[in-house]
Amino acid sequence: MPNDQLKEAIEVTNSELVIPPHTNHFGTIFGGKVLELMDITGAMAAMRFANEDVVTASIDAVDFKKPIQVGDIIELKGKVIHTARTSMVVKVDLFRVDKNERHRDFSCRGYLVFVAITPDGKAKEVPTLKVTTDEDKKNWAIGEKIKQRAKERQIRDADEV
Ligand SMILES: CC(C)(COP(=O)(O)OP(=O)(O)OC[C@H]1O[C@@H](n2cnc3c(N)ncnc32)[C@H](O)[C@@H]1OP(=O)(O)O)[C@@H](O)C(=O)NCCC(=O)NCCS
Repeated sequence: MPNDQLKEAIEVTNSELVIPPHTNHFGTIFGGKVLELMDITGAMAAMRFANEDVVTASIDAVDFKKPIQVGDIIELKGKVIHTARTSMVVKVDLFRVDKNERHRDFSCRGYLVFVAITPDGKAKEVPTLKVTTDEDKKNWAIGEKIKQRAKERQIRDADEV
């Protein structure tokens, strides 16, 4: 059973200046770097929600909509949108931010699943996310689908090995 405690999620913000080691020879950011930043932002959102250490269990498909160039400032926003017994789905949005911070351009979104763990690496119960607004409910339904897809992949992979 999930932890009985009902808890609201806070949005975590993380920002980064895109420098040459983050980019390919066209001067645009590597997809892998974007995933790394999403992973870190998502982990912070999950850790702060669960009050525990977490590991990344899976990253759902990420589509890169707009290129990010060297010299750009990017901002990532992460929030827990779904909880189960020991896992949390975190939505992470990435924006390109204007230097004077007046304009924010949406670049891509990722959904990551984190699992709270004990010091010896065992999955540990997390609080239950408090779902209040229509947007919370919509996000929760997306989180359900993400968890369902992850389960289907686990069944598929177990068949293949
Ligand atoms: C994630 C991990 C702790 C799960 O351990 P486990 O022994 O499979 O534990 P369980 O079977 O009890 O599953 C625990 C939870 O993880 C979820 N889970 C496990 N694998 C998952 C995956 N690939 N995607 C999404 N959720 C996953 C389960 O659904 C379960 O969720 P719930 O308790 O909320 O219902 C373990 O697989 C692990 O340590 N993986 C490596 C994590 C890591 O090192 N990540 C960094 C990148 S390699």
